[in-house]
Amino acid sequence: MYYPITRPRRLRSSANMRRLVREHHLRVDDLIYPLFVTAGRDVKKPVQSMPGVYNISLDLLLPEVEKAVQQDIPGILLFGLPETKDAIGSGAYDDNGIIQNAVRAVKDKYPELLVVTDVCLCEYTDHGHCGLIRDGQVLNDASLELLARTALSHAQSGADMVAPSDMMDGRVQAIREALDEHGYAGTPVMSYSVKYSSAFYGPFREAAGSAPQFGDRKTYQMDPPNVREALREAEQDIAEGADIIIVKPAMAYMDIIAAVRENCDLPVAAYNVSGEYAMIKAAAQMGWIDEQKVTMEMLTGLKRAGADIIITYHAVDAARWLQET
Ligand code: PBG
Repeated sequence: MYYPITRPRRLRSSANMRRLVREHHLRVDDLIYPLFVTAGRDVKKPVQSMPGVYNISLDLLLPEVEKAVQQDIPGILLFGLPETKDAIGSGAYDDNGIIQNAVRAVKDKYPELLVVTDVCLCEYTDHGHCGLIRDGQVLNDASLELLARTALSHAQSGADMVAPSDMMDGRVQAIREALDEHGYAGTPVMSYSVKYSSAFYGPFREAAGSAPQFGDRKTYQMDPPNVREALREAEQDIAEGADIIIVKPAMAYMDIIAAVRENCDLPVAAYNVSGEYAMIKAAAQMGWIDEQKVTMEMLTGLKRAGADIIITYHAVDAARWLQET
């Protein structure tokens, strides 16, 4: 008998052989493309730390959405930058707010495209926190009503799915009840169930103007070292009626994606966040990495880790690259 008997290289010998035995696949079907809609007219302001990402006013939004539609991406995720902010985030649940108007405009033009809305107060509050503040504390229960109102007004504007990202306890149930009571029992909740207090959101806070004006988000977003807590959060959201579970960020949390995938039967979405995007863009601009190859390897890695859905600023590029190969 000679050595080696098994030769794994046999199944790597050609492109078609590798195709045949490939275990995981990134598909256009997996992608959700986030967009930042801003108040004003004729605005298409580049986000400095996120090349290729813009703050776009409603009048210029549709051509940007068109890019996702052209690539057959199933859905977009909308974030709003309101004209004015206040202590109670009124812009978030204003029936004529930035998101409500954007949803109506997008659904009018592209009725088939899934329009998902981020439900949170931080872009709408002058203090930049995701809930109401009293005596320097972020209030939980008092914030739920406003989050539920926000989600309901998004649904009433035509949103296909709402995605609460605030991390207040009990918000999935509060939102579910508000939707059901008003005839939106069919609108799914994609919950940011497992959202860590992460430095990878830095560029997003520039993009959305949502940095907290005092303190940080550590009393509501999760502590990065924790795993079991992620499973409890997911379990709790499922019990409250969540339809899809988001894990966020993605790249430094692939073990969490795998653990949540293992522990629940719902679709799991990985949020490939702004800082992750910025790192790839910056290194690619320096000529230090191959943007396309690194991006596709990373997104495929998220699928391999167990994500069914990937929310990513790379979505339009990735879809184009998938179509080309
Ligand atoms: C709002 C929200 C944030 C992100 C999505 N929704 C920022 C935060 O929690 O500070 C981050 C997205 C990204 O970094 O790409 N709460």
